[in-house]
Amino acid sequence: MQRESFKSKLGFIFAAAGSAVGLANVWRFPYIVGQNGGAAFVAIYLICLALLGYPVFFSEILIGRATKKNPARAFEELGGHSLWRKGGFFTILTGFLISAFYSVIASWILAYLIFAFKGDLVHFVSDQQAEMYFKAFATSSYQPIIFHAAFILLCFALLYTGVRKGLEKSSKLMVPFLIIILLFLAFIGLSLPGAKAALDFYFKPDFSLITPKACLVALGHAFFTLSLGQGTMVTYGSYLNRDADLTKSCFPIALIDTAIALIAGLAIFPIVFSVGLSPSEGPSLIFYSLPLVFSQLKIGYLLAVLFFLLLVLAALTSNISALEPLINYLMDEKKWPRKKAVTWVSLGSFALGFPLLYSNFMHPKFLVFGKNLFDQISFMALDVMVPIGGFLAVILVAWKWGLHEASRHWIQPGGAIVQEKSWLKGYLWISLKYIAPLLLSLVFFKALGIL
Ligand code: PHE
Repeated sequence: MQRESFKSKLGFIFAAAGSAVGLANVWRFPYIVGQNGGAAFVAIYLICLALLGYPVFFSEILIGRATKKNPARAFEELGGHSLWRKGGFFTILTGFLISAFYSVIASWILAYLIFAFKGDLVHFVSDQQAEMYFKAFATSSYQPIIFHAAFILLCFALLYTGVRKGLEKSSKLMVPFLIIILLFLAFIGLSLPGAKAALDFYFKPDFSLITPKACLVALGHAFFTLSLGQGTMVTYGSYLNRDADLTKSCFPIALIDTAIALIAGLAIFPIVFSVGLSPSEGPSLIFYSLPLVFSQLKIGYLLAVLFFLLLVLAALTSNISALEPLINYLMDEKKWPRKKAVTWVSLGSFALGFPLLYSNFMHPKFLVFGKNLFDQISFMALDVMVPIGGFLAVILVAWKWGLHEASRHWIQPGGAIVQEKSWLKGYLWISLKYIAPLLLSLVFFKALGIL
């Protein structure tokens, strides 16, 4: 079976940007900024992206592009030992596990898009009322299941047709659309009365607010938002043509991802400030606070529809990228045709997400090691498995494969980028060899409660 590939460099950029830009940008980023001190946190986050995020992102794409194999095989080929293969497979599993809880949140968002269309999200008079509305939906006996199935079905449809017709085409369509909606929302946000307070909060740093915990949150986020440590970027890199310029392909993706997170803050903070709410609302921001805000604004109906449409698009292009590594693995290793692999992986994702749909609302006796199943799986995947996966990729490239060999795949036929701009090589290398392993270990030990 010939390996699939992206048709063009631009197609790759859109698909990878679609993966990177997800709920972490438009939902999580604004509230963690709110919870961790505003502008100062944004500054720390940008530093984390430069020190850790971008170099690891670059090296994962490089692993995929150099080997043209799924993460398990790619790790084995470069690591020269079958143990590395297990490491690669571990990252594939991480992506699959992430998709289990990611798709649950996405299915709630899909439901809210439909509720927004129906005009149901503009009648709230209090926070509690909005909360009760959400809980009534999320604990109802069949609605969450239907929306979860619908979301997985959408992913299935996009994945079924393959890399070019599915991943590439859909991202080329959805990512620009998403950007337009976001810009429009930011424009509206900035014309609201809360814009001044929001801009101050967002752009005037007060570094006394920064805690070590905030730094670790920023590190973890820089990692997750670029879809690292979970097989996704290795797989996408393996679909990138050999003649594509790596630096020029990777940089715009990190830029788009960062810009979208920043603009999402510009859209959300003014809305939140305009009605006197706190920006540190936490995860409930989109399901409780924003519907309350939409109910108080004249253009609330339009805002609600656009906002949830934006979130659905962001979640779709990310969730398919979390499932693609396992699909590709089954095609490569088990010689399954794409359609069979997509069908089983989608069914598996639905089955795995199923117990998570209600676990947030279960009786405390159903806790697993002190957390409900949803929190436990998201904690394991995000805080434990993702840093391990990233750590493996970094050690593989910087310590096992080595600078000399790796840069042979990095130099482009058209021009010797690495040698011409050796500061780039130096920067990436210091980060991959020393800074990234150290920082990833910190994130990992923090998750285990050792720090
Ligand atoms: N990067 C995505 C986001 O920002 C999350 C993601 C996770 C994507 C896992 C792919 C795989 O939301």
